[in-house]
Amino acid sequence: MVLLYLFAGVLFILGLKGLGSPRTARRGNQIAAAGMAVAILVTLFYIRDLDPIHTGSGEAVSWASILWWVIIVGALIGSAIGAVLALKVKMTSMPELVAAFNGFGGGASALVAFAEIVAAGTIVGSNASYATETEVTVALSIAIGVVTFSGSFVAYGKLQGTITGKPVALPGGPYFNLVVVLLMTASAVWAVGFNQPAGYWILAALSFLLGITGVIPIGGADMPVVISLLNSLSGVAAAMAGFVIGNQGLIIAGALVGAAGFILTVQMSEAMNRSLANVLFAGFGTEGAGPIDAGDKPVNSATPEDVAISLAYAQKVLVVPGYGLAVAQAQHAVRDLANALEEREVTVEYAIHPVAGRMPGHMNVLLAEADVPYDVLLDLDHSNPRFPDTDVVLVVGANDVVNPSARDDASSPIYGMPILEVDKAKTTVVIKRSLSPGFAGIDNPLFYMPSTMMLFSDAKSALENIQEALEDL
Ligand code: TAP
Repeated sequence: MVLLYLFAGVLFILGLKGLGSPRTARRGNQIAAAGMAVAILVTLFYIRDLDPIHTGSGEAVSWASILWWVIIVGALIGSAIGAVLALKVKMTSMPELVAAFNGFGGGASALVAFAEIVAAGTIVGSNASYATETEVTVALSIAIGVVTFSGSFVAYGKLQGTITGKPVALPGGPYFNLVVVLLMTASAVWAVGFNQPAGYWILAALSFLLGITGVIPIGGADMPVVISLLNSLSGVAAAMAGFVIGNQGLIIAGALVGAAGFILTVQMSEAMNRSLANVLFAGFGTEGAGPIDAGDKPVNSATPEDVAISLAYAQKVLVVPGYGLAVAQAQHAVRDLANALEEREVTVEYAIHPVAGRMPGHMNVLLAEADVPYDVLLDLDHSNPRFPDTDVVLVVGANDVVNPSARDDASSPIYGMPILEVDKAKTTVVIKRSLSPGFAGIDNPLFYMPSTMMLFSDAKSALENIQEALEDL
């Protein structure tokens, strides 16, 4: 059995490796799903061999038959709900779906730990008890699982707009949560050290509170980072649950999710040039900030016809997509415009910033949906050397990721964040609806540069209008 769980673990690792590139991601997902199928089958066979238990009247009851049905019916219902949700979800709502999945994962791990203490009779007051190390993993599984559960649903609510996306200040700031963590530690010590089962329930209640109060002070636009961190925590909770019930498959899968989620969290923070502590405690993110007053700064306002003329006479065009592309659902329109330009022998490539949009790989997923080939998607390091030789850069709904202040202005809140240096191109066209700021809530000097043309419009209709104008040339 252990070897088969190990085999499932190898499939998970190969799957994760596949997820490292858009080209192999689909295959990676399938390999990881096959690994999960192996792990579930192994578990079903393991249960088949469980010894029957004897009731008070001496009658032998087979656990296997009950558990088989519980697992099979549960897996069928869960798969049906998961499949419907995954098929129906819009690309822009993907972070919410992941948040919900994480929440259920954390909750499930906590339930496994609770089931174990209930089964041991500690909760109902019998003398049965576990080794201290098992009790410690039970406490950790409950704490981390329940924090993940409530935290994920607050993140879900913030993304959906049912809970305010603004950072909500707690009484005492971060010290509030410090006090909750200390109380959690005290209740865990009471439960484990003094064999007081009620301590586990208090721990669960405090963990539920920490999930809420830990996430609510964080700005809505930082939720993808929070969700990635909660994803990592749901893995740790699963690994703990694996230790509790001695299941190697759960330990391997949980550890992989924990490590992968944490690496992703750190990489997302680094790509924004912010520390994880800054994301969690600084209350950053002013989405919905009012329009910037340009004062007397000159702005070159352009029409779709002006942009079409620039594009028609260009040799090299680089498209820089951003959050506005996702909002406008303009991925098909941008692909159609690129096709029209390629028919005119203009080379079109895409420069993708690692944190463009609101979730990792946001732009890659949207462009893949519109069948844009992977080999024309350039990452930050490959894009920047190309801008000086590019005739026209078409910035579609991107703002912070092309803000030169991050490079030039040491007083800027985003100073140090790596940017796509679109200001180095011969002409830069920016498509957005107004001079409003992006996620960071700050002005962008790019908009006032002599080489920049601003096309104020919704991204999708702007791209369609440019294409129409191009056809008339
Ligand atoms: P932002 O800086 O957020 O700017 C997006 C721009 O899109 C806005 O200025 C907005 O301007 C425009 N826009 C909105 N709707 C539009 C529409 N329908 N048509 C055209 N334009 C529209 O986006 P970005 O450049 O992609 O940068 C991403 C930001 O999010 C970074 O600051 C990053 O640190 C942060 N962030 C990213 C992630 C991940 S993992 N990607 C996670 C958390 C935070 P108008 O209102 O004027 O149209």
